[in-house]
Amino acid sequence: MVDEAFKVWQRVLAHASRIGDTTLQSLFSQDPTRAERFNRTLSDSRQEIIVDFSKQLIDDQILSELLNLASDLQIVEQFAEMRNGLKINWTEQQAVLHTALRANSDKPVIVDGIDVVAEVHSELKALRKFAQSVRDDKKFKKVVSIGIGGSDLGPALIYDALSLSCESAVECFFVANVDAHEINSVLKKCNAAETLFIVCSKSFSTAETLLNANIAKRWLAENLGIKSDSKILADHFVVVSAYPQRAEPAGIGAANSFKIWPWVGGRFSIASAMSLAPMIAFGPDVFDEFLTGMRAVDDQMQNSAPKNNVSLILGLIDVWNYSVLGYSSQAFVPYSYQLRLLPSYLQQLIMESNGKSVQVDGSATSMRTSPVVWGGVGTNAQHAFFQLLHQGTDIVPVEFIGFAQSTHNEFSSHDTLIANMLAQSKALAFGRTVEELKLENSQDENAEHRAMDGNRPSTTLLANALTARTLGALIAMYEHRVFVQGVVSGINSFDQWGVELGKSLANEIVNSLNSDSSNLADKDSQDASTQRLINWYRQHRKS
Ligand code: F6P
Repeated sequence: MVDEAFKVWQRVLAHASRIGDTTLQSLFSQDPTRAERFNRTLSDSRQEIIVDFSKQLIDDQILSELLNLASDLQIVEQFAEMRNGLKINWTEQQAVLHTALRANSDKPVIVDGIDVVAEVHSELKALRKFAQSVRDDKKFKKVVSIGIGGSDLGPALIYDALSLSCESAVECFFVANVDAHEINSVLKKCNAAETLFIVCSKSFSTAETLLNANIAKRWLAENLGIKSDSKILADHFVVVSAYPQRAEPAGIGAANSFKIWPWVGGRFSIASAMSLAPMIAFGPDVFDEFLTGMRAVDDQMQNSAPKNNVSLILGLIDVWNYSVLGYSSQAFVPYSYQLRLLPSYLQQLIMESNGKSVQVDGSATSMRTSPVVWGGVGTNAQHAFFQLLHQGTDIVPVEFIGFAQSTHNEFSSHDTLIANMLAQSKALAFGRTVEELKLENSQDENAEHRAMDGNRPSTTLLANALTARTLGALIAMYEHRVFVQGVVSGINSFDQWGVELGKSLANEIVNSLNSDSSNLADKDSQDASTQRLINWYRQHRKS
């Protein structure tokens, strides 16, 4: 951290003990305008998302110091540099340009002499044309998108989120896991002649995706009654990759392929061709709306005054909760069946981005960098893990997400859903004391067990309805929060070296597991525990 920012950071830290001596209850009672003032709107002409962070453990001084920190660290300026193509993924010497995926065509961004925005728009044009042709042809009724991590979670989230509000031209399935039960269960629901497979892999070297794509190819050949090298198979495959030339050698011939680029991180690729499946399902116009929602928030992050910059403020509050107050996890609870995949999407986005401990200069960071991210859908979550949120020894900041309108007309169900969301944030913030319980019933023998301390922070996001545009806005806002957290902790949010070792060890071990040799796995290459597990597995595996 530069000197100035370091001084501000010290001041921010000093506020932690001060806030520890107060409560949300007293912050609200001292300031009747708190609810209004600690509230912002993430909106454009067609949508509104209100963001209430008044139940966070912050006050004016803290917010102002956090904004000072942002200013000293030049977070917004760094965001603009990222958007302009600066190579901020320094370990991979890459620009970080997920924002270019939704940039207006009249705003060129030049990387290594190439206008990436022009490339994006030419690819988008081809994608739109292809998606529309699949919709018009009506040959394919099922689309199976095969990919994992960022090549799965984003498109699956969009499809799930919008499938109740937008008419779908095809039924989409998403296959990620190398556990073949997953692909088998999907294939059971498909008819080969009517099924299109989209193989999504930025690297086209991810073992899970290649294995699943080859299972799909075998299934197609068997069910179409053709040879596995028949050219007909290619009509059922689309490849989305930064390296489409790797598909053929990996056994996947595809009649169509679409590009993504090395400067889009997998977990930031939701606005790319990776989302072809929902684009086919709902049509290119709906996808354009999604991109418009994202672009509006990109512009707000770059241009709005810091005190109104929702993504910046929420990113700073994330830092406050995790790196300053030390709350080690963060829960996301959408009160929306359609957003039930959001917690897993955010898990990858946040944890794969900021679960790091080395700074730009190679030194270890002294700061805590990423919370454990988890969550579930409301109200189900209330009957599962909310007990811990209310009375557990760990404090977990919660983010509630709800909508004023639903796609169904069961108004009392919807009112009850939202009432529960509001009740939970209220209970977390204000709790109830033993004294209050005793006042209600002086004989209450369980008052100590029933009392809740409160003072547990949450943010509530409330929007009109879950449209494509709102979804785009929400996702862009989460992406920018990740950026803010990364800048404050001085790490590279855009690489993911931590997943490499496990992948290469798995490649080694898989040979030991399925080797035909009667000798058990090479004793020198494994630690004793792993060796023993390999041996046991080999003796018991089905062959
Ligand atoms: O888990 C590591 C990871 O590289 C993610 O970052 C990525 O989203 C996922 O694997 C899939 O990678 P690919 O799109 O290259 O198959």
